[in-house]
Amino acid sequence: MRIDIVTLFPGMLEAPLDDSIVGRARQRGIVDIRLVNLRAHGAGRHQVTDDAPFGGGGGMILKPEPLAACLDTVRDAASHVVLLDPAGRRFTQAVARELARRPHLILVCGRYEGVDERVREHLVDEELSIGDYVLSGGEPAALVVTDAVTRLLPGALGDAAAPEHDSFARGLLEHPQYTRPERFRDWAVPPVLVGGDHGKVARWRRVMSVWRTWRRRPDLLETADLSPEEQKWVDGFSQGRGPSDYI
Ligand code: ADE
Repeated sequence: MRIDIVTLFPGMLEAPLDDSIVGRARQRGIVDIRLVNLRAHGAGRHQVTDDAPFGGGGGMILKPEPLAACLDTVRDAASHVVLLDPAGRRFTQAVARELARRPHLILVCGRYEGVDERVREHLVDEELSIGDYVLSGGEPAALVVTDAVTRLLPGALGDAAAPEHDSFARGLLEHPQYTRPERFRDWAVPPVLVGGDHGKVARWRRVMSVWRTWRRRPDLLETADLSPEEQKWVDGFSQGRGPSDYI
């Protein structure tokens, strides 16, 4: 897969894209990520990319021509162009899965107080928001999208880990995890996890995943992919039962 990130501040993105899972996926050729400097398409000697809003008011607005010229250099028939903007559709794990199936993403980082409306209407395929808060620009959002999408690409996580076990993969939060030591201070690991019975461990994990989701994010249960048994646990929790009633 190829991801082009269109930004006025490539320096904000370089280091985070060189490390960890994304950095390794780039090295292995699983994803081809390029930073495209919008400034290079700005007008005149000063390479201007923004201007004051028509109708007055404060702030500067990203002009349409530099972005159009920039997109002309990277877009082809297979490209999916996304503007990162707080007014966009909410980015979720389901959207990440959707984007991971595309051959070419172009992520456009909005900046300043806004983007000329004609960019939204004519130059991009969709707008995405990573949450209900306002960032200074789309760069951190582009990083979030790039990371969430890249780790879903085949081979990106290596053999040991698999994205289908992640939180949200089935619409549920992940179960608690422990590692050595078995006892730290006075805090012991749940005995079932060190007992060696794989069936019991699997059941404990499923119950705890449903329990944690019920406690912390009950909104997720409305769309989660629950088996009839898991639905029974949810009903039990609502009637005052706890995870130990099902483990
Ligand atoms: N740009 C500014 N805020 C944003 C957000 N919440 N999501 C995506 N892009 C943004």
